[in-house]
Amino acid sequence: MNVFETIEAVRRSVRQARAAGKSIGFIPTMGALHAGHLSLLDAARGECGYVVVSLFVNPTQFGPAEDLGSYPRTPEADRAACESHGADAIFAPPVEEMYPRPSLTQVAVPPLARGLCGRSRPEHFPGVCTVVAKLLNIVGPDRAYFGAKDRQQAVIVRRMAEDLNFPVAVVVCPTVREADGLAMSSRNRYLTGAQRVEAAALYGALQRAEGLIRREHPPAETVIEAIREHLAAHAPTGVVDYVEIVDPRELSDVQRTDRPVLIALAVGFGRARLIDNILVD
Ligand code: PAJ
Repeated sequence: MNVFETIEAVRRSVRQARAAGKSIGFIPTMGALHAGHLSLLDAARGECGYVVVSLFVNPTQFGPAEDLGSYPRTPEADRAACESHGADAIFAPPVEEMYPRPSLTQVAVPPLARGLCGRSRPEHFPGVCTVVAKLLNIVGPDRAYFGAKDRQQAVIVRRMAEDLNFPVAVVVCPTVREADGLAMSSRNRYLTGAQRVEAAALYGALQRAEGLIRREHPPAETVIEAIREHLAAHAPTGVVDYVEIVDPRELSDVQRTDRPVLIALAVGFGRARLIDNILVD
């Protein structure tokens, strides 16, 4: 497995792999890899001849009061995990390699970034879109892998790639969860023991909502109310940022639940802001 820090070096290796007839798979990450990230690597390994993982904590997608400085960084463990899951290359550029000067260009998909996480994190998705566009242009993969855990991100990136004709298939893989249902996240390590117990209620609430929709198709606000009640009962110290029911592609609010819907929520526990979602179709 190769570890590249420069754009030129990773491009050269991808060119060689392509010349050898291999298809290119790419998994963009911010490192601190866990089983959720590695499931994307496994999917790419099964479908592509040459697999590149990027490890880059992208500063432009963090708000001024967010956790850029304290975001977990575990480069040695990440390297070992990529190697044991069969990655061919890691791209781990320093910030100056990605941003030698401030980017005056921004890629954004405003109609999809207004609601859900975009409401409380207005800088986040333009930062994500711009860095993902840069990474796709640097690596030039045939297939890029994203997790359903960050569903809004995946929907936005797919739309960006379609609108701008990036020659890449955006593949969305299922959320990997802990035994009690908590979606795996690099930020789970911020939780205290008591918060960690309560955090399982996020998925509990989503499952309860899914059951309610499948049985009765109640109006969205009834489902949202049931989710809020579940969270109040099982995660009393959690501060709910949002609970929304939206169209899975347009991410716009819906009232009816007798057609496919995406239920998404965000809950803060101290400095950890956790998100989760479930697709009911
Ligand atoms: P990061 O949070 O490191 O996540 C990298 C990828 O792993 C994303 O596609 C995310 O959805 C996926 N992932 C995280 N937890 C997962 C889980 N429990 N199950 C399945 N997939 C999971 O998302 C980012 O980094 C950044 O915004 C990035 C796209 C790299 C741009 O900087």
